[in-house]
Amino acid sequence: MPPTSATPTSDAAKPRILTGDTPTSTGLHLGHYVGSLENRLALQDSYDCYFLIANVHAFTTLAERPAEIRANTIGIVKDWLAVGLDPERSTFVLQSEIPAIAELTFLFAMLIPFNKVMRNPTLKTEIETKGLGETYPFGFPMYAVGQCADILTFRPELVPVGEDQEAHIEMCRDVALKFNQLYCGVGNRVPADEHAKSGGVFPVPKAKVGRVARLVGTDGKNKMSKSLGNAIFLNDDAKTVQKKINGIKTDRATMTSPIDPSHVLVQYIETFMPRERSDQIKADYAAGKEVMDGHVKAELGAVINAMLEPMRVRRARLDSPQGEATVLDVIRGGIRRANLVAEETLYQAKKAMRLDLGTPPPRHLG
Ligand code: TRP
Repeated sequence: MPPTSATPTSDAAKPRILTGDTPTSTGLHLGHYVGSLENRLALQDSYDCYFLIANVHAFTTLAERPAEIRANTIGIVKDWLAVGLDPERSTFVLQSEIPAIAELTFLFAMLIPFNKVMRNPTLKTEIETKGLGETYPFGFPMYAVGQCADILTFRPELVPVGEDQEAHIEMCRDVALKFNQLYCGVGNRVPADEHAKSGGVFPVPKAKVGRVARLVGTDGKNKMSKSLGNAIFLNDDAKTVQKKINGIKTDRATMTSPIDPSHVLVQYIETFMPRERSDQIKADYAAGKEVMDGHVKAELGAVINAMLEPMRVRRARLDSPQGEATVLDVIRGGIRRANLVAEETLYQAKKAMRLDLGTPPPRHLG
């Protein structure tokens, strides 16, 4: 058996995570931050992290616009670096440069019933919301299988994602279970979290949803989203952030009128202010004390701006003329590290599938 734990790249003591973004657009906002990025930042110390840019998946809806996918890919790496993801501690994975992902996609496609893929609720919702109708390419549903390969290639324990991705993670778990049972001799009654130690090539990964599954936009009605014009972007300057917050309407008649506890202003206070201060403000509103919304908004704006300022500073450096070179270096370094793990996984998977006729082990393991 090839080694399953220590690889030359990873800290064997740390469990692995993988997650990723599709470069169909750039421009992160506070919804992305509390939904996933903050989670990733916090996990960087205690996990061996793989962050994937799903640039091949981007072709499922943008095949006619390759230049846009390229630009968005660079944009996403800049977004990540600006937020504070650290390519020294974590591995940035460019999907198109990891051949093992493509190979495993095809092999995993045999383990999932076609009709099950087509019933995947995340795919169905996307077909509706993106207005894909009947004209989407074959590769579009295929990306759900591809996402299983994105994940399992890195054999992670956890997959931090938004709640909209849970159906995909469920499918990925099914693939891992089936693979281990069919090809690694893991018994049907072995619980999912014991598959790896019972000889399965793939640990059965779990989804980990962020602190705030869905942040409401400044309109107070819809989920924060670029296309709805209700977003505060991580790259907005301080004045713009304050202006957007000031624009939130509370409709209180007087300074002592109550506020709906689910009002967007209250949600933002709860999400971004320190716990104690947030409780205090909510208590003041509830007790009918004199509360000036303008003061609350100014305080909230200051807290959000303090959080965003270091990101703006890093972003400005990346937007300089040398910025693109830095990004390309990060991408190349990530590809090298990612392929060491990916080749090892593919080797183990093929061996388990008896596709081991003349297959040399990856050079770094040979
Ligand atoms: N489909 C995910 C999204 O749209 C992006 C993605 C691709 C992903 N591959 C992944 C997320 C693997 C987690 C794990 O957000």
